Amino acid sequence: MTPDKWAQWLLSRRDGDDADLRARHAADLAAFRDGVLDRAALAADDVLLDVGCGTGLIGFGALDRLGPDGRVVFSDISPDVLDVCRRTADGDGRCRFVVAPADDLAGIADASVDVVTTRSVLIYSERKADAFAEFFRVLRPGGRISLFEPVNGFAARLRPDDLFGTGDSPVNDLIAKVGDVYRGTTGEATRPMTDFDERDLLDWAVTAGFEAVELDYRAQIDVPAGPVGDWETLKRAAPNPLVPTYGEAVAAALTVDERERLDAYMTALVAAGTPTRRTMASAFLRARRPHRER
Ligand SMILES: C[S@@+](CC[C@H](N)C(=O)[O-])C[C@H]1O[C@@H](n2cnc3c(N)ncnc32)[C@H](O)[C@@H]1O
Repeated sequence: MTPDKWAQWLLSRRDGDDADLRARHAADLAAFRDGVLDRAALAADDVLLDVGCGTGLIGFGALDRLGPDGRVVFSDISPDVLDVCRRTADGDGRCRFVVAPADDLAGIADASVDVVTTRSVLIYSERKADAFAEFFRVLRPGGRISLFEPVNGFAARLRPDDLFGTGDSPVNDLIAKVGDVYRGTTGEATRPMTDFDERDLLDWAVTAGFEAVELDYRAQIDVPAGPVGDWETLKRAAPNPLVPTYGEAVAAALTVDERERLDAYMTALVAAGTPTRRTMASAFLRARRPHRER
């Protein structure tokens, strides 16, 4: 059976099934994982719930930090990614697996976990405030949330047509047409990815009842980054699970002549090792459920 869109993206469409691209993502992913887990201030016997666990980036990172009495609850909306985690856990008795959306963590009892983590999950939820309320409900008094989310509205507003970080270039017109495919065909599906910012994250945490709310925001505009990487590989990759690959979007947007012009430009750019420019924003947030309710 074909895995669902979440598993497909995490397992292959994120990096076009390419080892080099996978390795390039791995460094960023490790930094996100460590940023979330460092802020979670784990104790060896904590019970940690990772919401939207995917293939287990945060959950297995947590297991490495917990002791023999610690436990990790892997939860996700996708049964297929939970199957991947179950296989990776390979019978480790400290793991439990729960299919649930972030905004309705049925199956997780009230006040039953010490830490809730989540990474790049709320961006897909239509009901982010409800998700914060659920995090609060399942945490024991004194329990912590630690999360990371990209703030995608930032780049969407500032650099809507700089899909590949190539900045001002002779193929601006073509890249804008490819961008139109993403905006046109996936606008409604991807709206939750751009309809919030760091202030909303703070508001939702406070409204849910959390205290000691701390947010670390990082914004980058046109900051030199790594080279594009192999263009044919990049075309097999998709920027997120809800949208076509870059190659599919190029095919839908451009005529044959236009495609040849884009391919020629991007291939030359890659051959020259030209650095890209990164425009993005993201936030780590941590907070605590009060020991005593106000
Ligand atoms: C970008 S992946 C991140 C996976 C993992 N947290 C990580 O850091 O690698 C997004 C994950 O969120 C899950 N997801 C999407 N919408 C969700 C929702 N409403 N509730 C819970 N999980 C969701 C997907 O199945 C996918 O595993």
